[in-house]
Amino acid sequence: MKTPIVDFVKNYADAKTARFHMPGHKGKSFLGMEALDITEIGGADVLSCPHGILAESEENATSLFGTAHTFYSTEGSSLAIKAMLALVTTATPRGASRPRILAGRNAHKAFLYACALLDLQVTWLYPSPEERLCSCVITPKDLEAALATMEEPPAAVYLTSPDYLGQTSDIAGIAACCRAHGIPLLVDNAHGAYLKFLSPSRHPMDLGATMCCDSAHKTLPVLTGGAYLHLSKEADPSLVERARGMLALFASTSPSYLILQSLDACNRYLTNGYRERLAACLERVAALKEALGDKGIPQLSCEPLKLIPAPRAIGYTGEALAEHLRSAGVEAEFYDDTHLVLMITPENDAEDLRRLEEALFRLPRKEALPSPALPAILPHTAPLSIREAILSPSQAIPVALAEGRICATPTVSCPPAIPIVISGERITAADVELLAHYGQDTVDVIVEE
Ligand SMILES: Cc1ncc(COP(=O)(O)O)c(C=O)c1O
Repeated sequence: MKTPIVDFVKNYADAKTARFHMPGHKGKSFLGMEALDITEIGGADVLSCPHGILAESEENATSLFGTAHTFYSTEGSSLAIKAMLALVTTATPRGASRPRILAGRNAHKAFLYACALLDLQVTWLYPSPEERLCSCVITPKDLEAALATMEEPPAAVYLTSPDYLGQTSDIAGIAACCRAHGIPLLVDNAHGAYLKFLSPSRHPMDLGATMCCDSAHKTLPVLTGGAYLHLSKEADPSLVERARGMLALFASTSPSYLILQSLDACNRYLTNGYRERLAACLERVAALKEALGDKGIPQLSCEPLKLIPAPRAIGYTGEALAEHLRSAGVEAEFYDDTHLVLMITPENDAEDLRRLEEALFRLPRKEALPSPALPAILPHTAPLSIREAILSPSQAIPVALAEGRICATPTVSCPPAIPIVISGERITAADVELLAHYGQDTVDVIVEE
């Protein structure tokens, strides 16, 4: 597979042209990568209406993912999520009421920001008490039941799968349900770009989603910020036509060519033995998971490239386990009181896995810690819409004083950046407990007269 963006920038850098254009470093080395950091100069194409090397590279990605079109984002899935929801908004007839999205409650804050910008209403699908904040696995039956209670069908169904804890919903079953009701299915697949390359594919686009975003940078060897917005061949063609404009609505007009080169190079990487490397990596990870199980380290069952030991079962909090791993030269993706998440790709070599395994084996086993009893995530009263709440005057107050106040900008622990209370909702005593549990000192609330 050709790499037109990589080739163009390399030739340009090699030519040592005097750069009388942005960026201000002029290709001189400060951090080391500046020679390859260009802007939309002549021949380098324009991401908001590509006809040259960017169009060619996106076509390569499109053919790899088998979509109607795969668009590049240099601003992560956060941008692609806003574009997906803007597309749904453009499909709502003029004069109709504000579109309503039926969404899993574990949505990333980018979803909430999109709702604020586009003035969307949300009906939430809630997690079971055991799932807490991070997960919200939805079955087709759950979806049917939720649709049956709605006065009007939603403008879209929006799910996060896989989530931060590697839990996945039955996207094929849910897509069939959405199709039967004529509702587009949008999937936040930020954690699942690699699912395309499993045999068989478990990527949302192959399971019937209308559109989805992938943070290529999370599971593929792509620089931070590199992401895809995929539109299905089954999607209304007018959505595909409008997608570029909806990305442009929220994107910077200065896309990073370092990230674009990285996405471009990834196309070649994915066609150059990646499936085999991924399969070999999955075998190594499965063997590691089994070995840990044999040594009495239980794990959360999850998608194959995450390893989520259950620290409390062996006497540790997630924070304590993360500290132990750090002292052994291993850094986890995420940890909190109850979880520790390790993300693995084929770029983790045998030495990485050996170091992780040894550190976990060395850990002295202690008596299991009980799981903290946390309030369930439940429906709230919401005096304000998400947009009104996020765009109203607000103030930060101590969490302990927040009961009864209306949540303004969402409070999240980052990662996983899932709002603990939704903007516009009245904060309950249970929320105060949750906010404190997730380490929040202050919360942003609406200034009330
Ligand atoms: C589930 C989920 N969705 C969306 C995002 C946003 O992705 P990005 O960082 O690529 O903008 C994240 C980031 O961590 C995420 O975990």
